[in-house]
Amino acid sequence: MSRRIALAYSGGLDTTIAIPWLREQFAADVVAVAVDVGQREDLAAAVARATLAGASSVDVVDATETFAEEFIGPAIQANALYEGVYPLSTALARPLIVRHLVDAARVHGADAVAHGCTGKGNDQVRFEAGIAALDPELEVLAPARTWGMTREEEVDYALARGLPLTVSRGRIYSVDENLWGRSVEGGRLEDPAVEPTEDAYAWTTSPLLAPGEPGWVEIEFEEGLPVAAAGETELRDIVRALNVLGGHHGLGRIDHIESRVVGIKSREVYECPAATILIAAHRALEALSLPKDLLRFKRGVEDRFSELVYDGLWFTPLREALQAFIRSSQARVSGQVAMKLYKGFLSIAGRESPHSLYDARLATYGSGDTFDAAAAAGFVQLWGLPSKVWARAGRRRFVAAPKEVDAGAAPVPAT
Ligand code: ARG
Repeated sequence: MSRRIALAYSGGLDTTIAIPWLREQFAADVVAVAVDVGQREDLAAAVARATLAGASSVDVVDATETFAEEFIGPAIQANALYEGVYPLSTALARPLIVRHLVDAARVHGADAVAHGCTGKGNDQVRFEAGIAALDPELEVLAPARTWGMTREEEVDYALARGLPLTVSRGRIYSVDENLWGRSVEGGRLEDPAVEPTEDAYAWTTSPLLAPGEPGWVEIEFEEGLPVAAAGETELRDIVRALNVLGGHHGLGRIDHIESRVVGIKSREVYECPAATILIAAHRALEALSLPKDLLRFKRGVEDRFSELVYDGLWFTPLREALQAFIRSSQARVSGQVAMKLYKGFLSIAGRESPHSLYDARLATYGSGDTFDAAAAAGFVQLWGLPSKVWARAGRRRFVAAPKEVDAGAAPVPAT
C-alpha cells in the first residue's frame, strides 16, 4: 500500500516542488491543503499549480473568518506586538493552518503531514509544535529542510519537471501574507544598515507620497473587539478596509531586527496598516476605561502572550490561560475612538466610553472641582514615609556596640 502525505500548500516554489519530491522519495500520494488566511494571491492558480505538480487532490479552505474571530480578535485584545513592534501576522496564522492540515490528514487517511519551512525560520517550530499538540502520533516531514537544494537548484528541479515558475531566478524578497499583514525578508533587506527600498512594499504608499490631507476613521469597540469601522461591521471586513485606508496614508510600515526562536537575529520588514491602527485605538480605549493596576499588570501578560504566539506555542495551556485573563479584562473596554491618519503617522483624535473612568469633576483645574486637595496632603505624607525612614536610616553610621560585662552572671564552667 502506498503512503499518503498531507502537505500544507502555499503555492510558492518550495511547496510546489515538495509535491514531486515527496512522491518520489516516499512513493506517496500527496494531498495538498491550501488555507486561505487572506493572502492576496490567486488561489485558483495555486490549485492548478499543485495539480500540475502531481497532487492527487487539493483542498482549499476559506479560513478568513475564523482567522479574524479566533486569532486576530484576541491579538487586538492583547495588544499583541512581539518585541514591542511586530503584530505577529505570520505567527498568528500558523496554528490555524496547522489545524486544517491535521484535520485534512484525518479526513484523507494520511499517515504523515508535511510543510515547506526551511531549517532557519520560526515557522518550522510553529508547524511542528502545533502538530505535536493536535496529533502527537502524526509523523511530520519537512522536505525543504531535508533536500539541501539552493534556490537555483530548486528552480532547476522545477523546470526539469515541467513546472511553471511563479518566481524569477533573481527573485529578491521572500514574502508571506495574510489578513493581518505582509512580511518581507531576504535580498537587500539582509543588510540591517541599509534602509528598505520602495520595492519591498506592496500594501502601503510611501509616506512621502501619501495624501496631503489627513484621513479620518472612527472605530467602535465592544468588550475590546472592533465592531464597526469604515462602514464595515464584521472583524474580517474591518481589517480589510483598514489595511486599504491605512496603506493609502502610508501607515503600518515596520522595520524590525527580530530575535528568532532558533537563536538568530533577522531583519524583517512588515506592512500591517490595520493592525497598527486597531492596536493603537484599542490601547487608547483601555487607557480610558481600565484602572491603573489592571493596565500595568496586563502589559506583562501581553508581552508573554506575544512571545508564546511568536514561539509557536499557541496550542498550550499557558496561552489559553493568559487569553482567558485578557478576555476577562475586556468587559468594559467598549466605546469609540477617532483616529487621524496622515503621511505615515497616526494620532488619536478623540475617545469616548460609557465605562470611562475619566471624571471631569476630579480632573479639572477649573471651577466645579470636587477633588479633595486636603486629603492629598495626608496621602502624600504617608506615601513618602518609607522613603523618609530609609533615608534617615542611611544617615546613621554603623558603630559596633561596646561589649557589656554582666557582673551578676554565673561564671562559665571550665570544660
Ligand atoms: N519573521 C516573521 C515571523 O517569524 C515572518 C516569517 C515569514 N516571512 C517571510 N518573509 N517569508 O513571524
